[in-house]
Amino acid sequence: MLSFKNLKLYTTDQIFERCDLNKIIKVASALEPYAKGDKFTDILKDKVIASLFYEPSTRTKFSFHAAAYKLGAKVITEIGPKFSSMYKGETLSDTLKVVEQYSDLIIMRHPKEGSAKLAASILSKPFLNAGDGSGEHPTQALLDIYTLYKEKQTIDNLNILLCGDLKFGRTIHSLLKLLRFFKINLFFVSPKQLRLPKKYYDLMNEYKIHFEESEKIDDFIERADIMYVTRIQKERFPDKEEYESLKDYYIINRTLLQKAKDNITIMHPLPRVNEISTDIDSHKGAAYFRQAANGVYVRMALMLLLTGRESQFIEP
Ligand code: NCD
Repeated sequence: MLSFKNLKLYTTDQIFERCDLNKIIKVASALEPYAKGDKFTDILKDKVIASLFYEPSTRTKFSFHAAAYKLGAKVITEIGPKFSSMYKGETLSDTLKVVEQYSDLIIMRHPKEGSAKLAASILSKPFLNAGDGSGEHPTQALLDIYTLYKEKQTIDNLNILLCGDLKFGRTIHSLLKLLRFFKINLFFVSPKQLRLPKKYYDLMNEYKIHFEESEKIDDFIERADIMYVTRIQKERFPDKEEYESLKDYYIINRTLLQKAKDNITIMHPLPRVNEISTDIDSHKGAAYFRQAANGVYVRMALMLLLTGRESQFIEP
């Protein structure tokens, strides 16, 4: 079993076993009443959490901050990169080495793939990758797993359709590495320019996970239990014309859902642009706002696990 205390989580590769996932889920579930205000704790009142976001964020940043406050921790952050010493030319390594002098846990989002791995190698304090370019987004993947359990009670035997920008979508990358523990069927749907990077096909083959792929949602919609939709990642395209030609490739609407199972669950890490029509929001299977709420519970759990303070919230 993984030792969570002081962990520097930069990739979901670091989660080796299903029991590690179960532990996070158990702690997150125990923390829901604290997040909702039905119970109170200030167990992290002596902790300072540094939050560094060098890329836009609403959900991830706010849910991390909300999670910290719900546990009584203090958050230090920047108003934006322009107010950081990086703007004066400081290296990321130097900034991190300084920030850890002032804090007990560091959260970072950065546009460069690999920056989180670098941070993990430098820091001696616990660390959470909140997204590194088109690399990974481990805490999102963990809240996605938590959401799958809450929506479906089990993950085994699900048919999961992953659709949109599979090339640059970091949430998909981190999630696939966690899905390797389950017996599932995957349907990959993307324009051919936005197929998954090769290493994820290798991973599926290594773990003998059954997958099929297509450019058309229609090929799988009738069989899907879960449809996980992603935004075409505009900011990652070297060629803006290519983005323009692909941006509205998929639009999920009520007409499409008529072909789906009655109990289909629709997930999206958000933000959405046009890929899910707002007429889906009232569908009982539209889980994306519930998914965003789950981010607070899972991030609270991670903060407690990484500081070694989870034990009083779970039975041994
Ligand atoms: C995602 C991200 O930043 O990777 N958003 C999030 O954290 N919930 C997805 C996206 O930006 O498309």
